[in-house]
Order: sequence, then C-alpha cells, then structure tokens
Amino acid sequence: KKKLSSTLEKTIAMIKPDAVSKVGHIMDMIFSDGFHMSKAIMAQLSRTDAQRFYAVHQQKPFFNELVDFITSGKVVAMELIGNDAVKHWRTLAGPTDSAVARSEAPNSVRARFGTDKQTNAVHGGDSPENAAKELNIFFGPQPQKNTAKLLDCTCC
Ligand code: PPS
Repeated sequence: KKKLSSTLEKTIAMIKPDAVSKVGHIMDMIFSDGFHMSKAIMAQLSRTDAQRFYAVHQQKPFFNELVDFITSGKVVAMELIGNDAVKHWRTLAGPTDSAVARSEAPNSVRARFGTDKQTNAVHGGDSPENAAKELNIFFGPQPQKNTAKLLDCTCC
C-alpha cells in the first residue's frame, strides 16, 4: 500500500574516522535502502569546524573528547535525499551506542561497524534544519582543506 504522508528530505550522513575503511560497505547499505546520494566528500575536519559541527553538544562533559575523535582522521560526509530521509537514515544508522545497536538493531550500520557510544561509525543529522547546517560545513561556500570530492550530482 502506498504511504501517503512521506516527504522528500535531505539529510547528512557522516562516516566517522573509525569506519572510513568501511566506506564501500556503508555506501552499499545506503544505496540498498533506497537513498539517493547527491554529494560525497572525504575530508579531515579542523578543530574549529568540528566544534561548529558539534556545537549543540558544547556543554556536554564529552565535548572535547568528541572533537578529538572526529578530528583524529578523515571522515566521509554525504548528502542523502529520500522520503523522510532524516528519520530513515537515523534508523539505518541504529542507536547511538553500538553495543545497544548490536542487541536492538543488529542489521544497522552501528551494529555492524561501530564499537561503543563515541566510536560509533556514523553520524546522522537529527532534523532537516540541523542537517542543513551540518551539510553547509562540508558543502557550503567555504571549502574544506584536505578534501577529495567523491560525488557531486549535477541533477539535484
Ligand atoms: S546526548 O547526551 O543524548 O545528546 O548524546 P547522544 O545523542 O547520545 O550523542 C551525541 C553525540 O555525542 C557522542 N557521544 C559521546 N562521545 C564521547 N563520549 C561519550 N561519552 C559520548 N556520548 C555520546 C555520540 O557519538 C554522538 O555523536 P553523533 O555524531 O551525533 O552520533
């Protein structure tokens, strides 16, 4: 039966440094789940951009550790388009804690490729607004240094 209330959205999916070597497997899961991938870039975030990226967690006790981790190696950022893409990608990613993901969502990306709460393979935007802000860090007018463009779709 056709779903009536779905909306076409954009979101950001980011492969964290611990799972960049699994980029092929993760992209395969994304395509198999029906997403359209319009942009992809491999980049190493500066501390300033990492702090902007995780600004919502600035007051959390783990903020500095999170910035250390995300700047410790290259990441792959992707713009995904699909019906309810924000929620859809968060479901495919699985629960934040990879140990929980393994018991509750064994086919999720974090269950397959993550380790724990911080080293959890992937990030997903939590709303269309935050996804747009996060996409702008990678694909906005100020280009990232140390990047390799992997995909730039001209049709969307
Ligand atoms: S919270 O407190 O509920 O907002 O946290 P949560 O949504 O579970 O996680 C937000 C992001 O912070 C990372 N995280 C951590 N990093 C380091 N140490 C600890 N203890 C920790 N807890 C959570 C977690 O991986 C989330 O990153 P993203 O990129 O959003 O998945």
